[in-house]
Amino acid sequence: MSNGDYGDRGNKDASITNTKGTGTLKASPGTGRKMDTGSAFLIGDSMTGGYGNGPDILHDCTIAVNPGEIAVIVGPNGAGKSTGMKAVFGMLNLRQGSVRLDGEDITDLSPQDRVVKGMGFVPQTNNIFTSMTVEENLEMGAFIRTDDFSETMEQVYTLFPILKDKRNQPAGELSGGQRQQVAVGRALMTKPKVLMLDEPTAGVSPIVMDELFDRIIEVSRTGIPILMVEQNARQALEIADRGYVLVQGRNAYTGTGKELLADEDVRKSFLGG
Ligand SMILES: Nc1ncnc2c1ncn2[C@@H]1O[C@H](COP(=O)(O)OP(=O)(O)O)[C@@H](O)[C@H]1O
Ligand SMILES: [Mg+2]
Repeated sequence: MSNGDYGDRGNKDASITNTKGTGTLKASPGTGRKMDTGSAFLIGDSMTGGYGNGPDILHDCTIAVNPGEIAVIVGPNGAGKSTGMKAVFGMLNLRQGSVRLDGEDITDLSPQDRVVKGMGFVPQTNNIFTSMTVEENLEMGAFIRTDDFSETMEQVYTLFPILKDKRNQPAGELSGGQRQQVAVGRALMTKPKVLMLDEPTAGVSPIVMDELFDRIIEVSRTGIPILMVEQNARQALEIADRGYVLVQGRNAYTGTGKELLADEDVRKSFLGG
């Protein structure tokens, strides 16, 4: 696929990207603090930690998304991408570092409390209730809401019309791409202020991937910043305002999506040349 395939997509408003022009493209391990994260809406800042009493998986790792942006995390299998997302969502005990949302330190909050604060998270696996219907999945997504969420459900159905057609079907009967739509729709039901997606296009065909990316761009244009992990690194960086390459739990490269796509080393090592 050529670089230009997504040329007319993604957020092109230069005023909200790289405002300080720090150009820290080749951030070497441990330079997380030097990144331009001053205006981040959501930031996992210099995170170090692992699972339980096990070894550290993340090492001074920083991931962030600014208002209006799509930020994409790529990197090899086992690099710690999912672990980084879980850390930001409060599913990991950080030994060092902090998580801030809209300027507020939320490092000590539980995942549930982070949802209440406005975080929507779609994990990489087990992200839907397969025996429940599509509509029940969306209702489950609204669990923290006490107001009338029917309007939000209509918005989800407008975004993903196929889900309306299949709303009374068990979600487990849907195709891979449709299940991912259910998972994203469920997360949108809380009316999140920021959306975190771990491999939303895993296991789907290139055409379905393309459609999902279009929907994700659509969500981002409604004003919801998006932080997502992607296996389809090249395509994801095409739509990314900001990209992070993680290697062994560390920030290896950081830049705009365009910068990373143009970088010789990133291309050779992570984008297949
Ligand atoms: N629940 C877990 N308990 C212990 N180690 C884990 C757990 N989940 C992942 N890991 C380890 O953390 C490292 C990073 O995994 P992960 O974050 O899933 O990578 P990625 O998402 O980049 O493929 C791997 O070495 C993996 O074995
Ligand atoms: Mg993962």
